[in-house]
Amino acid sequence: MTDGVEKPDDVRDRVLHITDLHFWRLSWSPRRLANKRLLGMLNLRLRRRRIFDLSGREQMAESLAREGAATVIAGGDFSTTALEEEFQQAFAFLKTLEERGLKVFAIPGNHDVYTFEATRRGCFEKHLGAFMPGGRLPARVVLPGGTPVVFVPGVRPNLLSSRGNILPKEITQTAHLVAEAPPGPVLVVGHYPLLFRTTAYAQRPMHRLGHAKTLRAALGDTGRTVLYLAGHVHRFSETRDDRYPNLTHVTTNALFYKGRGGYTVVECTDTGFRVEAKV
Ligand SMILES: [Fe+2]
Ligand SMILES: [Fe+2]
Repeated sequence: MTDGVEKPDDVRDRVLHITDLHFWRLSWSPRRLANKRLLGMLNLRLRRRRIFDLSGREQMAESLAREGAATVIAGGDFSTTALEEEFQQAFAFLKTLEERGLKVFAIPGNHDVYTFEATRRGCFEKHLGAFMPGGRLPARVVLPGGTPVVFVPGVRPNLLSSRGNILPKEITQTAHLVAEAPPGPVLVVGHYPLLFRTTAYAQRPMHRLGHAKTLRAALGDTGRTVLYLAGHVHRFSETRDDRYPNLTHVTTNALFYKGRGGYTVVECTDTGFRVEAKV
């Protein structure tokens, strides 16, 4: 697991953030297409299956294992249209990481609750529940070196858009988990970014997290040093919050995105974080 990568002395925890794996399966079964999935399948047929190249998954698992990290945090969008077969592929991939000695945590993305039916049937929980940090979000874990990680809810099924929403009560709970976390910098992980625009991406209203600004303010107001890790935009970015200097926002590339896929390495120290995109 620590194959050749040395951990600098000040690093408490070395974490790999992977996200937006988007395992996919084409299905034209009429029973399965009687909802939003028809649009998803057309999109997959025309575009996505050429963008998400899953042929290098074994090699990717090897690269992740060679990073010398103990923990992988997987930030959602494991599937494309929330089909059982897509979740099975995702489970197999996370399992290979576990077999290589990595502790894996997973939260859902909007594509994992792609249809109301898949959400009602609890498809994500059924296949990937073993990797979830606790029964429901928000939840907090503490990594072996002492870094607290708070996982944020916010995904929901939609008729057409990919909007998320976090409830005021969930924001209060999240901020409490951050404020009351063991001493030191805190990692906070959600599927949706809290900044709608950075130098790397711009999010259309239909793709955003509802109440993102309130969550951002609540995290800023804790006064804790926070690194907020997200996916969803399929682009790496690292931005210091101009309103809350204790808050830094990072988004990670989609893991298997052809030509610019990859993950983010986060080194957690006693005073902050060092972030590096691996493409
Ligand atoms: Fe995605
Ligand atoms: Fe997403």
